[in-house]
Amino acid sequence: MAAYVAPVVPSTAVFKDGLFDGKVLFCTGGGSGICKAMTEAVMRHGANATIVGRKLDRLTASAAELAKATGRECLPAQADVRDPKQVHDAVAKTIAKFGRIDYVICGAAGNFLAPISGLSENGFKTVVEIDTFGTYNTIKATLPHVRASKGSYIHVSATLHYRGTPYQIHVSAAKAAVDAMSAVLAVEEGPHGVRSNVIAPGAIANTEGASRLMVKNTEYAAPAGRIGDVLDVANATIFLFSGAAAFISGQIIVVDGGYEHVRSSWVPYPQSVLDPASFQASMKPRL
Ligand code: COA
Repeated sequence: MAAYVAPVVPSTAVFKDGLFDGKVLFCTGGGSGICKAMTEAVMRHGANATIVGRKLDRLTASAAELAKATGRECLPAQADVRDPKQVHDAVAKTIAKFGRIDYVICGAAGNFLAPISGLSENGFKTVVEIDTFGTYNTIKATLPHVRASKGSYIHVSATLHYRGTPYQIHVSAAKAAVDAMSAVLAVEEGPHGVRSNVIAPGAIANTEGASRLMVKNTEYAAPAGRIGDVLDVANATIFLFSGAAAFISGQIIVVDGGYEHVRSSWVPYPQSVLDPASFQASMKPRL
């Protein structure tokens, strides 16, 4: 008997037009992948947006593409989230252009596969700086504006740190910290009208994360019958920013088709930790 395969449904087929009319989104990592799809969905429901990233060319092209696809305005703001000043400058540009920030997606992240024995101190620090410090810097720079609009945060995390996932010590530490920060933000800022939640995507097709992290020939069998689509994450985004989620804060929403309940190690275990060199050689095209 063939397994059921969950449909991929665009948010516009479920949520109403104009849901976010007059609102402004600030999204780090919005130039590509999952965060770009999240931004596009929020824009399709009426918001204007700023996308933040390190690569100006990619950012500028993505902003033009998003504006064309949605009929809304998109500002590309180049910044490395590790540098508080650059993030503050991106926020200032957003306020100068749009006058407000309602929604923030903290999505800028770095990842690669490396065992502890093959990861330098600087490699560990680099990922923690991008994911954890980058999220903190983004919260700090945007919070006065999000308070003013009684807005909402979504932090893009992961599921791999729910268990000991080999080759992911740097990202596990960084994402666990992101989850913890979101909860504190929800508790401290809830009385000011601000909500904060985490989306933890599983494997999402055609993203840099999946192409870097998924091991060749790995069987992927989620209860939902397929790998994730960026639209799955976008739909969770629309719901969490919408008024329908007004009573949801400090939560982690896993968007993985139920995969976390059945997943085994992403890398061959224990061979990959006993012999990292030959495993990494087999991964070369993807690393
Ligand atoms: N394995 C082991 N160490 C690695 C590595 C890998 N595949 N890739 C980077 N590092 C280490 C570097 O060796 C360096 O440490 P060192 O100085 O001790 O040699 C450290 O990480 C910093 O690397 P560098 O390339 O200088 O940092 P960066 O700031 O330019 O970029 C990343 C770091 C993580 C962002 C980079 O890997 C990248 O561009 N990734 C693409 C974005 C991404 O990861 N997207 C997926 C999101 S899920």
